Amino acid sequence: MELAMAELTRALQDPLLDAMNFLNEVAERFPDAISFAAGRPNERFVTADDTANDLRAFRTYLTAHSTRPEHEVIRALFSYGPAKGIINDLVCRYLHVDEGIETVPEAVVVTVGAQEAMVLVLRALCRDAADVALAVAPTYAGFTGAASVVGMPVLPVSSGDDGVDLDDLEAVLATARAAGLRPRCLYVIPDFANPTGMCLPIAERRRLLEAAERNRLLIVEDNPYGIYAGHGERLPTLKSLDEGGQVVYIGSFAKSVMPGARVGYVVADQAVTSGGRRTGLLADELGKIKSMITLNTSPVSQAVVAGRLLAHDFSLVRANERVTATYRDNLDRLLRGLRVRFGGDGAQAVHWTRPVGGFFVMLHVPFRADEALLEHSASRHQVLWTPMSQFYPGSDAGARSLRLSCSALRPQDIEPGLDRLAALVAEQSSVVAS
Ligand SMILES: Cc1ncc(COP(=O)(O)O)c(C=O)c1O
Repeated sequence: MELAMAELTRALQDPLLDAMNFLNEVAERFPDAISFAAGRPNERFVTADDTANDLRAFRTYLTAHSTRPEHEVIRALFSYGPAKGIINDLVCRYLHVDEGIETVPEAVVVTVGAQEAMVLVLRALCRDAADVALAVAPTYAGFTGAASVVGMPVLPVSSGDDGVDLDDLEAVLATARAAGLRPRCLYVIPDFANPTGMCLPIAERRRLLEAAERNRLLIVEDNPYGIYAGHGERLPTLKSLDEGGQVVYIGSFAKSVMPGARVGYVVADQAVTSGGRRTGLLADELGKIKSMITLNTSPVSQAVVAGRLLAHDFSLVRANERVTATYRDNLDRLLRGLRVRFGGDGAQAVHWTRPVGGFFVMLHVPFRADEALLEHSASRHQVLWTPMSQFYPGSDAGARSLRLSCSALRPQDIEPGLDRLAALVAEQSSVVAS
């Protein structure tokens, strides 16, 4: 039997869904290339022993805090579990310690990575074709892809000079509403954003919250990189400043514990009402949707995360001090190397963002940096990076920029990698000039 693509979900025609496969496929074909493309954490920091210790720590905690016999308690780890999760109380303690977020276990849903949290939130907010999401551009491709799968259009809001252009936000809202659309949320990564690496300044955070409240707009805050503050101070999350219940907060343990556990969470403490009567929290509704998508997040994986939290007094900032230093050194090397090769006053044809932490730098170049050029870069120069087009879907805005990530690289590969990148830039700039 054949299936016509035209009869399958429209999302499959979205080039975004192929972009990720393309990057993985190029990386596989050129295993000797130095990769600034991979935005994953450094695997060097994950050991099987750590994982066994984490499991043991959670098991000890569970049996000490339960009146049931140990074999029953342990069985809960190897069976199905509640859709909203089994470590919600520990996630709340972590949020209090590391993020200054005060919340309750009922407001939390433990998800299969932050990615599932995005799908749940968008699915819940999308009632019909009039519902749209807004996102600060450039936008993490996983969010745009999730919206595509849910069937929800994403309208870009300019990042401006300070991270979110509030005038543009008001303009996009007004235009959308005048067209009969219902903007349901604004997606934003305030800390060390993927792909720019930049942070939203504190004054902008407050102004954004005010604008959201004024416009009755939910903010979806995604914060996988906030703990890797590098040289910068950690700024308060939007959620910790949120007095009006405007923010749905999405977290991930992929970068702070390990990606393979696939554990994230969402804090959705907004009250839901029906006929004027309060029925529960948004988290309860997300839990219902989750029960029809993944049933529950693997209890074994939740146990690994919980064990790590218990072992470090609920601080992943403390647990990751050594890791943070490594990422900071890699970022320093990357920024220093760019300065040495491409000049330092930011006015050149090649210029880049200057993050103080996180994994990413966005580089602007005087030529198209698309998938065809990546293929050439891999085969001719043995260096990989991420084209920015996937972060600006449906627009040409990112055509002359690329994302560099330094998290997964060995420190000694950064200089040779930048030499290869400089050779590509010199070659392509001379093609443009001729
Ligand atoms: C901004 C952002 N959000 C979410 C994710 C995915 O998180 P998870 O692995 O927890 O699904 C990523 C992964 O790269 C990311 O960069």
